[in-house]
Amino acid sequence: MASAPQSPVCLADYERMAEQRLDANAWAYFAGGSADEITLRRNRSRFDELELVPRMLRGGAGGHTRLELFGRAFRHPIFVAPMAHQKLAHADGDIATAMAADAQDAGMVLSTQASVAMEDAAKAGATCRWFQLYMQPARDATLQLVRRAEAAGFEVLVLTVDAPINGVRNREHRVGFRLPDSVEPVNLRGLPVPSVEPLKDGNSAVFDHFMAAAPTWNDVAWLLGQTKLPVVLKGILSPQDASEAVDAGVHGIIVSNHGGRTLDTAIATIDALPDIAAAVGGRVPVLLDGGIRRGTDVLKALALGASAVLVGRPIVYGLAVNGALGVAHVLRILRDEFEIAMALTGCKTLSDIGPQLIRR
Ligand code: FNR
Ligand code: LAC
Repeated sequence: MASAPQSPVCLADYERMAEQRLDANAWAYFAGGSADEITLRRNRSRFDELELVPRMLRGGAGGHTRLELFGRAFRHPIFVAPMAHQKLAHADGDIATAMAADAQDAGMVLSTQASVAMEDAAKAGATCRWFQLYMQPARDATLQLVRRAEAAGFEVLVLTVDAPINGVRNREHRVGFRLPDSVEPVNLRGLPVPSVEPLKDGNSAVFDHFMAAAPTWNDVAWLLGQTKLPVVLKGILSPQDASEAVDAGVHGIIVSNHGGRTLDTAIATIDALPDIAAAVGGRVPVLLDGGIRRGTDVLKALALGASAVLVGRPIVYGLAVNGALGVAHVLRILRDEFEIAMALTGCKTLSDIGPQLIRR
């Protein structure tokens, strides 16, 4: 950390340092949300408003944070969320993130729009085993991505369904965000693209172009029929969609609003979680992301029904500040804070964590 102005001790420190390191273009992309960023802020503030009720005198020897998901054991429930264009943060990009996640025993989800080949990321980190899939306009292209992910040893497909079209990214608009030539979603290179009819007079680009090519429940059923890998839907916020997803046969759900980057004023994820957990009723695991910045946030998400959480922006901030070491430190801080939060609420294992920890 020789070149760092001070030693970061929490995830917010990494955020401040990353803002100093990154240029305005990259900062707008990573830090921004959509429109007025109300959901972006609310993802955080709703965590802060939840009050924990600590418990005393309950010991702790033998305690641990282990869990099992989709047949794999994990040392703790903190995962790395899929994020595009990581080479904008650091020249090593997703390779550094995968090495750091592995060093900290954190499951990692690699984005369809990763800056490195998915095979290289899987080689760099043994815990980089979930592949985030964006359905491509051509089914053949989607299938090529799935087959590559299977061959590279990915074990779970995370199908993101909440971003068929970008939100209103005003922060990006203000800086005129553009990807530099050095950053490319390399896994999409050379994939077949269908020929697109030009819009007719009176047609809407939103409906007749983007949404016409957007996946539907039919495509979810199709994907489930194409692969033996578990399919997890990312971006669910309504209990109705959660029920429909389980009925369709998906293997897991990630409660997410894309880090406040899609529909502004959408419900905060920690507010959406309890009703979704109730609708799912334990039939499949429910995970959550959005605004996880402290160990107590992890505890609160698990208390309200999540099996695990994913962390987004703090990972790229660690990457920007100090490459793989920065990402590993971010994950280490969060793990330590989470264990301390468990200890101070009298929890020895994840199964001790429940809604009784939160004042309603
Ligand atoms: C994302 N997210 C995202 N999600 C996804 O499914 N595929 C992707 O390629 C991306 N890309 C991406 C880039 C950047 C810069 C950000 C900040 C986010 C959403 C991400 O997986 C996750 O849902 C949120 O980032 C979680 O919120 P926090 O932790 O950033 O508050
Ligand atoms: C984003 C897209 C890539 O949030 O998911 O930037």
